[in-house]
Amino acid sequence: MLSKKIEEALNGQVATEAMSSQAYLAMASWAENQGLSGTAAFLYRHSDEERLHMLKLIKFINERGGHAVVSALKQPGTNYKTITDIFKALLDHETRVTHEINKVVDLCLKEKDYTTHNFMQWYVGEQIEEEALARTLIDKLNLIGNDKGGLYLFDRDLEVMTSAPAQDKAR
Ligand code: FEO
Repeated sequence: MLSKKIEEALNGQVATEAMSSQAYLAMASWAENQGLSGTAAFLYRHSDEERLHMLKLIKFINERGGHAVVSALKQPGTNYKTITDIFKALLDHETRVTHEINKVVDLCLKEKDYTTHNFMQWYVGEQIEEEALARTLIDKLNLIGNDKGGLYLFDRDLEVMTSAPAQDKAR
């Protein structure tokens, strides 16, 4: 059975994952309108993955005797000028998410809820991967600079990466 404090913290994380999904959906739409089809495909898939992260939390909360809450979402930012802006915003967002996850993990230890602590380790690992990937993509974009040929190849690489079979990591 979840304590009220843990239930609230997990519901906060449900909202955070939903906001991540919305934010990446907005970024995907921006990229699609710029003709960056590989980047758009990557971001649409990332948005879907965030929705799975949210669902995993909802199911866990309900299975452990809590009540998962689906809350209202703010409209995500859409004011991007370049593809580099997108990936910097993505990294900023993920860094904030990592901070939120660490707070939940910290609370689990304080409340001696080792079951939820164990469950949250999946999110800790996921954050390491997501931040590393965002940093790698930003490094590549910095190398490319204003080279249109380089940008074309970057976008094509993301298309290839995204069309590889998705790992069903969220279950
Ligand atoms: Fe749900 Fe971007 O981690």
